Formats: sequence, structure tokens, C-alpha cells
Amino acid sequence: MKLLFTLSITLLVYITNTAGYNYKEVVQKSLLFYEAQRSGKLPADQRVTWRKDSALNDKGVHGEDLTGGYYDAGDFVKFGFQMSFTATVLAWGLLDHEAGYEAAGSTEDCRKAIKWATDYFLKAHVSENVFYAQVGSGYVDHQYWGRPEDMKMDRPAFMINTTNPGSDLAAETAAALAAASMVFKTVDPAYSTELLTHAKQLYTFAYKYRGKYSDAFADVRCCYNSSGYEDELVWGAAWLYRATQDKTYLQYAEAVYPPIQYYIGFNWDQKIGGADVLLAKLTGDSKYLTKMQKYCDDTLANQQRTPKGLIFIAEWGSLMTTQYLMEICLETAALGVNAEKYRAEAKKQVDYILGDTGFSYVVGFGSKYPTHVSHRAASCPDLPATCDWTQFSTTQPNPQVLTGALVGGPGVNDDYADVRSDYVHNEVDTVYNAGFQSVVATLIELGYSD
Ligand SMILES: *[C@@H]1O[C@H](CO)[C@@H](O)[C@H](O)[C@H]1NC(C)=O
Ligand SMILES: *[C@@H]1O[C@H](CO)[C@@H](O)[C@H](O)[C@H]1NC(C)=O
Repeated sequence: MKLLFTLSITLLVYITNTAGYNYKEVVQKSLLFYEAQRSGKLPADQRVTWRKDSALNDKGVHGEDLTGGYYDAGDFVKFGFQMSFTATVLAWGLLDHEAGYEAAGSTEDCRKAIKWATDYFLKAHVSENVFYAQVGSGYVDHQYWGRPEDMKMDRPAFMINTTNPGSDLAAETAAALAAASMVFKTVDPAYSTELLTHAKQLYTFAYKYRGKYSDAFADVRCCYNSSGYEDELVWGAAWLYRATQDKTYLQYAEAVYPPIQYYIGFNWDQKIGGADVLLAKLTGDSKYLTKMQKYCDDTLANQQRTPKGLIFIAEWGSLMTTQYLMEICLETAALGVNAEKYRAEAKKQVDYILGDTGFSYVVGFGSKYPTHVSHRAASCPDLPATCDWTQFSTTQPNPQVLTGALVGGPGVNDDYADVRSDYVHNEVDTVYNAGFQSVVATLIELGYSD
């Protein structure tokens, strides 16, 4: 009897250890991170209660209401290019992996996270060919350390229009709105229709008036230059084709594609990897799938890895960079290519993040995680205590737990220090979590959760 008892305890411990990480908890917490990034008037059901209303005077040059939307990272600029990509990726994940979200009980929260961005885009799209690209100046904002609730600096608004166009930004926002229109198709048909109308207008604007949004106005050059707009024109067209079934959009995608056919990869600036796998799914054309397979195979085989197994692509935001790779490889797997191999790798890369190195890179997940993330709001004590650069410099942990946030991540030798000043490795970003969350939701859908 005693032996049996000991045996079953041993077995229980064994099972607990190999059951892995609670992916559902990761998705749930990731959605809390989006609540912490909310700008504007917070709703009654806000769960991250250390955050309050902020930036209630954000407006356009003619006084248009531009409140709402997301703060991009640890700072308080509303960067449209980042926000729209975040929304597209979240909507993509929810559309194609709703079963994962359902299992986590997070479908409704994910819809809210998407809507927080799309509501703002509708405000920012003030007329057919005018779209507000950014609120807040990166140069000014980065001189400030404190809470968004206490901000006093000017928050200028910057637009794209027919004389200063931004095809990349307009097409990415069109992608976000088109994907979101599918998310809301049955749950809120009127909203879905409104999103699609704006998506079509923004796409036409993007296609007709060509230019890079970072050439249109100077302020964004602090932070997020675009390397080109052709990839967004293809990606945006693919999303509009998916949402409308209108072949005109497929023709647009195919018209822009040839000169950039050698582009690869998927990140906030480079969308062609996402477009490839989406076009593969929508058209069944093998050229897209072949390209994706080659890209995933080459990268998995040849890309540098850290000693502990992280596929290492970029120093800044190393973890999210790999998660975006895994996202498009998982979508490739879903089309029947090397499914086992890509899925096993995705699980490995996610588990690296969640604790396989003895440390979790997601705030508030596991027992050891970052407590000094580079995030102004989280570094501040509860109101009404003052918060300024003193909080930046202190070695004390952040008073607020920024639950669910994925940090930039380690360097090439798995080296990482949990210090607030290190924005390269220890900042957080709405873009980081979007790809990561989508990958984790996919793993849940595949039954990889506990
Ligand atoms: C168009 O955008 C540019 C750059 O953002 C801005 O300076 C200009 O005033 C805008 N034009 C109009 C008519 O609003
Ligand atoms: C963006 O491009 C401008 C030149 O147009 C350059 O001066 C600036 O340093 C670039 N910004 C970043 C963050 O790379």
C-alpha cells in the first residue's frame, strides 16, 4: 500500500512536470497586457485597475477626437503603423484559431482587444484620403518618465493624405480593418460592415497615392521608419480579397508582387511572409507555399541559435522576432507542409519563453519573471504619489505588475539582465504580444496545452 502510494506520488510529480506550461493562462494574461496599454477613457469592465483614463485631449489638427487606441510600448506615443499591425495579427489569430481562444475562455477578451484598436482607426480615418498616423511626438514623449495619467506635454497629431501619402500605413490599417470585419461578421454585423467600408477606402487610398508614411512626416523617424510599402500593398490586398472575395483585390496583390518576390520574413515592417501564406491559403497557388516552405526550412536549419535553443534573428526584441517566424510557419503547417516539424519547433520556442531556461520572459507568468520591465506606467507607484525619472533610476522592482507582457528577450548567449534602462531587451510592446499570443493560441488549438 505504502509502495503504491509512493509510486503514485512519483507518477503524479512526473506527470505535472511533463505536462508543460499552462498555455491558456498565457493567452488570458496576454490579453490583460493589452488592457494596460489602453489610452483614452477606460471602460467599466477594465480589469487592470492601476491604469486610469489618460490622454483625453488627443485630437487632430482640426479638433477631431483622437482619444483611445493603444500606447505602443513602454512610452505613450500612439504609433499607427505598430497599432494597425498589432490589430491585424490579433484578428488573424482569432479568426483562424478561435478554438484555441475558446479553450482559454478568451474569445470575448480578444475581440475587445481588437476593437480597442479598430474603434480608434475609425476615428483617425477622418475622410476617405486622410488618416491620422500618429498622436504624440516620439522626440518629446521620450523625454518624459511618469504615468500617462499625468502627461502634460503637447501631443501633436500627424496625418497622411494625398499630398503626403503613406501606402504602407494605409494598407496595413486596411488589412487590420478587413480582418476585424471578419472577426465581427456574425457577432456585430453593423460594426463589421462599417469596418469593411473603411478598409476598402483606405486600401484604395494606399494603392492610388503611393509613398512611405515615414517620408510623409518627420516625427515617426525617431522610431519606426518603413523600408517600403509594396509588401503592405500585397498583404492588405490579400486581406481585402479574403474579406470580400472580390477578385479585384487579388489582381492588386498580383500586380504589386513581381518586383518584391524575393522579399521574405514577417514583422512590423516586413509583411510579405504573412502575405505569402495567406495567398497560399486563398489561391492554392503552389508558388506561395513553395516559397514559405523554403523559408521555414532554411531558417529552422541554418539560422543561428542560442546555446539553450532560441532561434536568434535579432538583438532588439529577439523573442518576438522568432515568434513571428513561428507564426507564419505554423500557418504553413496548417496548409499541410511539414506540419509536425514546424509545430514541434514552435512549441520549443514558446517553451523557451515560458521557462525552459529556468526563467519566464512573460511578466506575471511562472515563478521567476521580469520585475523591472522598461515601462513608464508600471514603474510608477499608485496614484497620487509622484512618478518621474527617479522611478526610472531606482533598482526597486516595478510597483505595478504588467501581467502578460512579453519582454524583448535575451541576447545571442541567452544573456539577459532584468534592468529598466535596457529597452532593447527589457521593453514590452503591443506588437511583441500579438504574434506570441497567436502562436500560443495555435498550440492550444492543436491540443498542446495541459
Ligand atoms: C497633408 O499631410 C502633410 C504631412 O503630414 C501635412 O503637412 C499637410 O498639412 C496635409 N495637408 C492637408 C491639406 O491637410
Ligand atoms: C529613419 O530615417 C531617417 C532618415 O530618413 C534617419 O535619420 C533616422 O535615423 C531613421 N530612424 C531610425 C530609428 O532608424
